[in-house]
Amino acid sequence: TSQAPFKNEPFTDFTVEENKKAMYAALSKVKKDLGKKHPLVIGGEKVFTEEQTVSINPGNTDEVIGSVSKGNNELAEKAMQEALKAFETWKKVDPVERAQYLFKAADLMRQRKHEFSAYLIYESGKNWAEADADTAEAIDFMEFYAREMIRLSETSIHQPLTKIDGEDNQISYIPLGVGIVISPFNFPLAIMAGTTVAGIVSGNTVILKPADATPVVAAKFVELMDEVGLPAGVLNFIPGDGIEVGEYLVEHPKTRFISFTGSRAVGCRIYERASKVQPGQLWLKRVIAEMGGKDGVVVDETADVDAAAAAIVASAFGFQGQKCSAGSRAIIVESVYDQVVEKVTELTKNLTVGLPEENYQVGPVIDQRSVDKIMGYIEIGKTEGRLLTGGGRAEGNGFYIEPTVFADVDPKARIMQEEIFGPVLALAKASDWKEAIEIYNDTEYGLTGAYHSKDEEHIEYALENMHCGNLYINKKCTGALVGAHPFGGFNMSGTDSKAGGYDYLLLFTQAKLKSRKK
Ligand code: SER
Repeated sequence: TSQAPFKNEPFTDFTVEENKKAMYAALSKVKKDLGKKHPLVIGGEKVFTEEQTVSINPGNTDEVIGSVSKGNNELAEKAMQEALKAFETWKKVDPVERAQYLFKAADLMRQRKHEFSAYLIYESGKNWAEADADTAEAIDFMEFYAREMIRLSETSIHQPLTKIDGEDNQISYIPLGVGIVISPFNFPLAIMAGTTVAGIVSGNTVILKPADATPVVAAKFVELMDEVGLPAGVLNFIPGDGIEVGEYLVEHPKTRFISFTGSRAVGCRIYERASKVQPGQLWLKRVIAEMGGKDGVVVDETADVDAAAAAIVASAFGFQGQKCSAGSRAIIVESVYDQVVEKVTELTKNLTVGLPEENYQVGPVIDQRSVDKIMGYIEIGKTEGRLLTGGGRAEGNGFYIEPTVFADVDPKARIMQEEIFGPVLALAKASDWKEAIEIYNDTEYGLTGAYHSKDEEHIEYALENMHCGNLYINKKCTGALVGAHPFGGFNMSGTDSKAGGYDYLLLFTQAKLKSRKK
């Protein structure tokens, strides 16, 4: 096969007039499509149900993005039967051919890039750059995993097994079966598409249950996969209630694997339920879980304070802090603490909050439940730290919260320990750089981290000792790039998988050895 080597989809520069115009055009085009009804897809059939989930714009709650049909146990069972049936043929399709569907889908998505981003802007409340990055990452996942499947199918033939006289030995990576993909609202395109296509290209069939808050962008992706001719039953789409549909499928004896991205509480519950062997079940289910984080940026006394402050603010407030990678803590060495705190406060005060389609830097959080949770933490923060800026709701007809910073927070405080998933940043002072790293490591999570310094020795030490899956030096702690920064963390952040990395597809396959006497 002669694919060009993988390259990341470039981000769009919206300061260029032409790009700005193209985005406005996509926003008005998609606006005309808002409010439509979207079906479930089961075995290639579109199914409209009476009960619907109404998806609204979190930045303007009067605007309906679409109504999406709602799955229940009966429909989930039908989807399982269709997925099982399709698996019998799909697993035999040549991996190189399976990869072609992803290449085609990536091409089509690239052509309609701004339209997908417009859906993200309306449905999830991302600003333009965040939406553009989400779409670019979705394209990257398709391009990357397609190449990975091809590589895996080739190297499996040529894997250097120990030579034994008189034998021919080969290993190949075969699919698992039916997988359940449960995807999050915060990367409603990239992570939803990435986790889905990883399963599919590896030869599995998938039942996709997208996040409740962002089902329309998922429906648009499912449409795209249909357009590229993915055979019926390979991808089944069952939005619905997490407890009802999600658990039914997680506990189903025919479910072979579950790929979940979302909160720690739900991830732990899925892990537990999936571990129980049901009557008639022939395997131990595999669970791939990407959960939360309490990520942080560490700044030592040698750091460039301007760059460090900018990284802290970008890490904390990108997509309103609703990233598992968000830097919701910063730990700063005493001698530069006041300086960094002052700059962080100033940068945060300068952030503009408003409607995503008008491309304000900070938009709404996803829903009322999030508002309640985040506002609860802000109240806790007021008792645990010194409020520097923010601390309340922001104006607008949506779920807006002011970017909020607390200083002088104790490392054991709740806002230093618990994932808030909103625009709330806690700053803590350390007496020296080693203590700062200790404070960073004092967490149940282990997803991302950043260390800011000019001292080689400190940097070496940080690289060795900061315990997280994605560690960045003199950078922000968000924005992992497919292929370059395989993404996933330790401890309560998940099952240590690396999305966008060279071992990811192994999680969706099992290795079969074929040994033959010559
Ligand atoms: N991959 C994203 C990031 O690095 C989070 O899911 O920010």
